[in-house]
Amino acid sequence: MKDTLFQAARAAMANSHSPYSKFPVGAALLTAAGNIYHGCNIENASYPEGWCAETSALSQMVTAGERKIAEICVTAEKMDRITPCGGCRQRLVEFATPDTPVHLCDQNGVVETVTLGNLLPTSFKLD
Ligand code: THU
Repeated sequence: MKDTLFQAARAAMANSHSPYSKFPVGAALLTAAGNIYHGCNIENASYPEGWCAETSALSQMVTAGERKIAEICVTAEKMDRITPCGGCRQRLVEFATPDTPVHLCDQNGVVETVTLGNLLPTSFKLD
């Protein structure tokens, strides 16, 4: 499954719209229901209006009616072991748990797995 997620993240990255940073990113989410949603970063000429690959993937997942992330994978062609940015960590936490695996990749596949709780301990929660 890890490799399937990596391939989904890679495929999304190929469609990245990142002419300003020239830093394509892809993300893939496996849900509790067993489906995979992926997304790429989408930048804008008004720079702060762009968004991350993880956010695109979340949009796909939520729009499809799913709410539970089982595994997360993110990849970038110019950075091995890229991790989700701070804002995306908070967005992911909304639909995951501290134990949710986050797969980190090099150019060939998953090379390390951490948890979302490792990446964002004591996250903000309203409940
Ligand atoms: N980016 C992501 O898509 N995900 C991350 O986890 C880190 C950063 C994007 C945002 C921007 O389009 C580009 O990478 C450079 O920061």
